[in-house]
Amino acid sequence: MPVKNRFAELLPEITAWRRDFHEHPELLYDVHRTAGRVADLLREFGCDEVVEGIGQTGVIGVIKGKTNTRDRTIGLRADMDALPIIEQTGLDYASKTPGKMHACGHDGHTAMLLGAAKYLAETRNFDGTAVVIFQPAEEGGAGGEAMIKDGIVDRWGIDEFYGMHNMPGIPVGSFAIKPGPMMAAADQFDITVTGKGGHAAKPHECIDTTLTAAQIIVALQSIVSRNIDPLKNAVVSVCTVATDSTAHNVIPQVVKLKGTARSLDPAVRAQLEEGIKRVATNMATAMGARADVQYDRGYPVTMNNDAATEWAADVARSIAGDIDMDMQPMMGGEDFSYMLNERPGAYIWVGNGDTAMVHHPAYNFNDDAIPAGSSWYAGMVEARLPAA
Ligand code: NI
Repeated sequence: MPVKNRFAELLPEITAWRRDFHEHPELLYDVHRTAGRVADLLREFGCDEVVEGIGQTGVIGVIKGKTNTRDRTIGLRADMDALPIIEQTGLDYASKTPGKMHACGHDGHTAMLLGAAKYLAETRNFDGTAVVIFQPAEEGGAGGEAMIKDGIVDRWGIDEFYGMHNMPGIPVGSFAIKPGPMMAAADQFDITVTGKGGHAAKPHECIDTTLTAAQIIVALQSIVSRNIDPLKNAVVSVCTVATDSTAHNVIPQVVKLKGTARSLDPAVRAQLEEGIKRVATNMATAMGARADVQYDRGYPVTMNNDAATEWAADVARSIAGDIDMDMQPMMGGEDFSYMLNERPGAYIWVGNGDTAMVHHPAYNFNDDAIPAGSSWYAGMVEARLPAA
């Protein structure tokens, strides 16, 4: 397969970009160095249009095929941001900025899409337009949504979106994908429990916020186990408990809880939101206290279109042979979901081999995955826009 051969040749170059990004991680929207480097390379490749500053610090590159008889445009997306983690890989190209690390492999995604852009600009063996999309702030900042809000769909007439994430545990060079939900809706909630603080030796003169918060934490677990259909998927996790007191003998006036709620379908998501509010406020009332619940909807479900999943799987099989179509969705969130909510498309996992899990301080993107990843990106354009 010609795509593969070219990417084997480009591997040292793409690997050098990847390691440069790895050495210089940037967080959220503050990806100025990375975005600048991406834009410079896209211009060097001869892209027809390179636009910076989309969704604050995102970059768009446009590559026109040899012909455009059907006026079709395929969008390929990669994320550029790193994580606030202290790197423990000991690599000679480890992060030069303590406390920032490419621990999710977005350095690899960016490099693989740059490789595909270079190849597509060289060959242009397709009928239509390829738009390469480099987004900021995937890790909690909704950079994908910011690029959608900046109008990328209409401005470049994007008809389909394809995105990729590396995944430890899947063999290098292989892929996994499924139709329907790939990643979860990721919401967060804040519960403020207010009672009556006081001396711990006089509980009868207080309204115990700590005990109320504990009852709420336990009762919240009944939402998934008792309210949600056992054949559906949901997570409710309370992750932070904080009070204004550090004493052994003071019942605090206020206790704050923070947590996350994950789901794979809109009805379950609504049930989680309703359930968390209902359980927290009523449990507090039962204890004579008050709970105020703030529920914030985050990234929506990453939903693969059925037909696009087949097209994506066909391209993956042409590179890797047999691939995993029987995988389970993950309850993590992914803001490529905002693009898939606008147009049909698909999100695929590319194998990172037997490495530490993403978001772990010893994780590293596997450069051996580059030929497969770049081939898939470029292959999606050639498959969906076959040369006239
Ligand atoms: Ni990631």
